[in-house]
Amino acid sequence: MFDRLTRRQTIAAFTLAATALTPLAARAEDTVKIGVILPMTGPSASTGREIEAAIKLFQAQKGDKAGGKKVEVIIKDDTGVADITKRLAQELVVNDHVAAIAGFGLTPLALAAAPIATQAKVPEIVMAAGTAIITEASPYIVRTSFTLPQNTMPIAQWALKNGVKKVVTLVSDYGPGIDAEKTFVETIKAGGGQVLDSLRAPLKNPEFAPFLQKAKDLKPDALFLFVPSGFGAALMKQVVERGFAADNIKVIATGDVTDDEQLNNMGDSVLGMITSHNYSADHDSPENKAYVAAFEKANPNMRPNFMSVGGYDGMALFYGALDKTKGDTDGTKLVDAMKGMAWTSPRGPISIDPATRDVVQNVYIRKVERKNGQLYNVEFETVPNVKDPFKAAKAGK
Ligand code: PHB
Repeated sequence: MFDRLTRRQTIAAFTLAATALTPLAARAEDTVKIGVILPMTGPSASTGREIEAAIKLFQAQKGDKAGGKKVEVIIKDDTGVADITKRLAQELVVNDHVAAIAGFGLTPLALAAAPIATQAKVPEIVMAAGTAIITEASPYIVRTSFTLPQNTMPIAQWALKNGVKKVVTLVSDYGPGIDAEKTFVETIKAGGGQVLDSLRAPLKNPEFAPFLQKAKDLKPDALFLFVPSGFGAALMKQVVERGFAADNIKVIATGDVTDDEQLNNMGDSVLGMITSHNYSADHDSPENKAYVAAFEKANPNMRPNFMSVGGYDGMALFYGALDKTKGDTDGTKLVDAMKGMAWTSPRGPISIDPATRDVVQNVYIRKVERKNGQLYNVEFETVPNVKDPFKAAKAGK
């Protein structure tokens, strides 16, 4: 069959194969597409809903034009399954000719799309996932969410300053949980503290009870927790049932656990809980007050959480890059334009570190309080302009 093709047909076939992954959106067209892949169903569906709402709000507020082009958003549901993320990324690039792919609700999903971004030279804007190494998986990845080391180190430092000497950690057993554990453990040990045990619960269908009982039996000064967005309420229900407070064990966490999306339903037993994180719906700034009001008006039964802000800022990043390139959708030019971009987000001042393509941002220490009848993470301390600490150490900064 193959030897019956003419030389011309053969060359044409090879050229077609070689260009199959080239973003055709680079051609002068008036519409620029961005393909957003999110878990809209499954256990991380709240991440999809929050980011979708934020993207719609962004376009309603800022319009659909950037760099002289019309920006069209295509949202796809990967149900939280990495093989589906990869297939959708491929289809968006090859069939829809998107200028960028974005979203990625969990670390394995962001990593699954990385080879597509690299081959097609299409920017991958990570709006949600938080494992530190993600941006190293492709030079086309730029992140507007956070990294777990970035969000974890401040709560470990807070613990050391507040008399915590002996700790137990309990995290979800995958990338971001292991990053959180490593950061917390290393920071506590470097500060002269002691780590009694590091426990890891499976991500899927976790049964926290045996881990929590073990943690309690070890009688630490503090129990540190990480689970991803959407899993905090189930964990906190079991934490409250075990009664750590009665044993004088502080329960501390990253803000993923006291997620704004679920916090209000956790009940008064979480009052006083201390966490560190990059965003609270209660953040006191004019930009955030406007953001929360507009978000809640457009979505009456929702409160914006940190995932929504990652999505909103991901759109700001894409629009900003298109403005800089004057609508040129060449992927390398777009990523170059994103490096070093800085703006005021609802979460506070942020920028894209040109060396790592990760977001640099304030991390806040917060306490759960009741305000106007609702539970909020109320910020009381700010660690300014935090970079991913391990990457910064590696780069000698
Ligand atoms: C992740 O999978 O990288 C992830 C997801 C949700 C979070 C944090 C990290 O809240």
